[in-house]
Amino acid sequence: MRIVLLGPPGAGKGTQAALLAKRAGLAHVATGDLFRANLERGTELGKQAKGYMDRGALVPDDVTTRMVLERFKESDAADGFVLDGFPRTIPQAEALDAALAAAGQAVDHALLIEVGREELVRRLAGRWICRACQTPYHDHSAPPAKPGVCDACGGELYQRDDDRPEVVGARLDTYEKQTAPLAGYYERAGKLARIDGLGGIEDVAEKLGRAIGGPAAVAAAHVTVE
Ligand code: AP5
Repeated sequence: MRIVLLGPPGAGKGTQAALLAKRAGLAHVATGDLFRANLERGTELGKQAKGYMDRGALVPDDVTTRMVLERFKESDAADGFVLDGFPRTIPQAEALDAALAAAGQAVDHALLIEVGREELVRRLAGRWICRACQTPYHDHSAPPAKPGVCDACGGELYQRDDDRPEVVGARLDTYEKQTAPLAGYYERAGKLARIDGLGGIEDVAEKLGRAIGGPAAVAAAHVTVE
């Protein structure tokens, strides 16, 4: 199964993609995480991406698409994936469709997580991320058992540079201009489901699971759709 998760910054894409990928046995491919991992390693790609990320703009399509297609070559993506943060523009969506079609594949579901701006700002202001495994936490809605320490791997928690209020505004504007039109793109293809992103993390996970065919479809995702 090949799933695209859409939604504005802070909607819960990373949180839900990690859960869905784990439960369905799919690879979790997150472009933001890939850029940040490159930045940590000091690669050219990371340095190039940083300038765009720090001002809430998108990294150019060709650079981003190349990185994702390279990631698809890793063995864990062979049975399918949950894409988190990609595509983010119409040209990226078209490049993804073309690459999958060349392999006789296609996106099965595009799930748009909808959350209002006020709640997005609240979520991003209270977010903490694990430096080692990228698990997101929140001061109020998803606190770690021990402050500053990841429950999953014991890694150090930090706040992202682009979660500063002045960058969050720019990211939300970039989303409206460049990424929101993807809803129409996938709606025309008959693949879009809109998910209300308010409610607890498990409530939202259940809505996403229903949109792709229910718990049985989640459990069987990586064996039924080849
Ligand atoms: P990226 O890392 O993808 O950031 P984003 O899309 O802005 O999304 P976020 O990671 O901020 O939010 P999320 O929706 O994953 O929410 P989360 O689950 O963490 O991209 C960063 C940058 O990289 C971009 O700005 C761009 O520069 C570049 N980039 C990336 N992809 C690109 C592309 N394709 N093309 C070009 N450039 C690209 O949740 C947020 C918080 O809310 C957390 O604290 C979480 O614990 C909490 N939370 C989650 N669910 C709930 C809930 N149901 N109730 C309450 N709180 C919740």
